[in-house]
Amino acid sequence: MRTLRDPAEMQSWALEQRRVGHSIGLVPTMGFLHDGHLSLVKKARASADLVCVSIFVNPTQFGPNEDFSTYPRDWERDEALCRQAGVDLIFAPAPEAVYAADASVSVVEKRLATRLCGASRPGHFEGVCTVVAKLFNLTQPTFAVFGEKDAQQLRIIRRMVRDLNIPVEIVSGPIVRESDGLAMSSRNARLRSDERGQAVCLRRALDTVESAFARGERSADALRSAALAEIARAPLARVDYVDLVDDVTLEPVSRIEAPVLCALAVHFPSARLIDNAVLKG
Ligand code: PAF
Repeated sequence: MRTLRDPAEMQSWALEQRRVGHSIGLVPTMGFLHDGHLSLVKKARASADLVCVSIFVNPTQFGPNEDFSTYPRDWERDEALCRQAGVDLIFAPAPEAVYAADASVSVVEKRLATRLCGASRPGHFEGVCTVVAKLFNLTQPTFAVFGEKDAQQLRIIRRMVRDLNIPVEIVSGPIVRESDGLAMSSRNARLRSDERGQAVCLRRALDTVESAFARGERSADALRSAALAEIARAPLARVDYVDLVDDVTLEPVSRIEAPVLCALAVHFPSARLIDNAVLKG
């Protein structure tokens, strides 16, 4: 397994691999890898000649009062996990190698990115789209694998690839959960033990929504209220949003007819967590 830190070296390696006919599967990450990331690597490993994992805590997707400086990092552990998982190459550049000091071009998705996390994290998806476009240019993947936990990110990246005709197939991998149902996330490591105990309220809220939906409830307001009531049972939780939106357009719905994304974001004192479920009518 190789590690490259220089973007120019990364790009010339990738162009050469593609020139000789090798497929490249990219798993973009911000590191502090967990089993959710490793399931994406496994998916890439199953069909790519070469698997590249990028490890880059991207400063441009964090707001000024967000957790860029405290985002968990553990290079040695990440490297060992990638080696065990059969990764061929880690791309781990420094921020100043990725962004010119006077960089003035970015990628803006103007519709899907205004909702859900985009409403509470202005500029977040501009940072994500820009870095993902750059990672695609630098690593020249045949396909890239993204986790379904970041449901809005996945839909925005699919839209970016469609609208900019980027020749990369976007593949998704299901949410991987802890034994109590908490969706795996690098930020879970920051939860104190009392917060960790209550963090299961996100999965419980989604369970409540899915059960009510299975019993025939089709009102978005009723499903939303059921989710909010479940989260209210966790005193340390502060809801950012609980929304039921069209699975493709991310527009709010009042009745569940076409597939609907039930997405939630909840603040705990030490971390903001997200989770989601798709309701198929
Ligand atoms: O999902 C993430 O970890 C990040 O948003 C991504 C896609 C690696 C871009 O920095």
